[in-house]
Amino acid sequence: MSFTADRLLVFGATGDLAQRMLLPSLCALDADELIDPKLTIVGTARSEYDDARYRNFARAALEKYLPEGRKSGIATFLNRLSYQPLDASTAAGFDRLARKVGEPENGLAIFLSTAPSLFEPTIAGLAASGLAGEHVRIGLEKPLGNDLASSRKINDAVAGAFPEQRIFRIDHYLGKETVQNLLALRFANLMFEPLWNAAYIDHVQITVAETVGLESRADFYDGAGALRDMVQNHMLQLLALVAMEPPVHYDSTAIRDEKVKVLRALRPISAGESVTGQYRAGAIGGKAVPGYDEELGRDSATETFVALKAHLDNWRWKGVPFYLRTGKRLPRRVTEIVVQFRCIPHSIFAGNGARTKPNRLLIGIQPEENVTLSLMAKVPGLDRDGIGLREVPLDIAMPDAFTGTHRRIAYERLLLDLIEGDQTLFVRRDEVEAQWEWIDAIRAGWDKDALEPRPYTAGSWGPSAAIALTERDGVTWHE
Ligand code: BG6
Repeated sequence: MSFTADRLLVFGATGDLAQRMLLPSLCALDADELIDPKLTIVGTARSEYDDARYRNFARAALEKYLPEGRKSGIATFLNRLSYQPLDASTAAGFDRLARKVGEPENGLAIFLSTAPSLFEPTIAGLAASGLAGEHVRIGLEKPLGNDLASSRKINDAVAGAFPEQRIFRIDHYLGKETVQNLLALRFANLMFEPLWNAAYIDHVQITVAETVGLESRADFYDGAGALRDMVQNHMLQLLALVAMEPPVHYDSTAIRDEKVKVLRALRPISAGESVTGQYRAGAIGGKAVPGYDEELGRDSATETFVALKAHLDNWRWKGVPFYLRTGKRLPRRVTEIVVQFRCIPHSIFAGNGARTKPNRLLIGIQPEENVTLSLMAKVPGLDRDGIGLREVPLDIAMPDAFTGTHRRIAYERLLLDLIEGDQTLFVRRDEVEAQWEWIDAIRAGWDKDALEPRPYTAGSWGPSAAIALTERDGVTWHE
């Protein structure tokens, strides 16, 4: 059902995500006149605020998290906000919430960012109070379960009240410009696609490195670990975008159909194809940081680092390893994809002593947004001692290529698409379930082998076993 919502209901309205991302994104969209002046926003959470107190709360968050130069619209934006306290674990308050939301003219968009234990009662409360009708769509923030069984349970509960076309599962990586640019790079250019397969690509590396540690989410993170927190969602979505077949159209069904085929082609990881780690005290950027167990205040067997060698059992990618690694407290924040091409079949320069290096495409997702293709070039000279060849970068810095355009944070795009009803950048149920299936099998393997995370020093690139994982294939992680 196509409609642009004129009401937005945000669960978890006092939470960290709301303060850091949702309120600033909505305020920015408002300032740029991208949302209808009629759109009203109701926040709900457990805190006993009234409208005025919530607006004050929102103002403080916006002052803190909006960048300088983007704050002038705060006062106007606050007029859109109201608030209804709710204990979502009981059915009692949902009728009051429905009255607060009122009768939208076009439709209602709900953004659900709550503790996993509140998902099911919230859906039941929404359905019972008339907040799940035909003109309502729902956005679901992770974590949606912590394995296939619990994610199915949540998906079943949501499906009992909303059809799939009105469910918007969020993976905020899909809201990033540079992630969307992967599709443009692959499918709006002729030159990559003929080479984008096992005949020409040696391997692919995907790195999502963070410098932060536990932040304020100790309990959640310790119950999840890096594999569930980062690989199950963001990294597998990146992998799917890199590996998918060309969709016929840029639309939600065509794109998601192709992504799910990739996710289903993931071969179960075998022993020796995964490495886990947990950081110990160290230093990042010259600053001493504590170890994971010190931050947590107890011992833990949760992995804060994982490296995997993944394979896709399909025609295009047979035999091409996808090396994935992610971790907290690594030396720098970087998300990047490296596509390593194979060697040329025959070098005409070999007799002259010149060595060629295979081409490499580096796609920087964050913080640097650049695409660099490494090419071989001749070193200028008379070649008296043989031809000199050297690798040179063909480098495109996206911000320079698009000066004057404003780059939005992921949630601006995702909230707008939720309000307007475009599912392309949201994850379909079959994708989530294929992701969990692969992840669950990895965890089962770890349990069977009683795998313990190996210690690594904060500020390093993870345990040395992660280096060995690629080096034994003759591959070096790009750093
Ligand atoms: C979240 C994870 O999904 O992504 C966090 O739960 C992680 O642990 C975050 O820090 C990383 O997002 P970004 O956009 O900063 O790369």
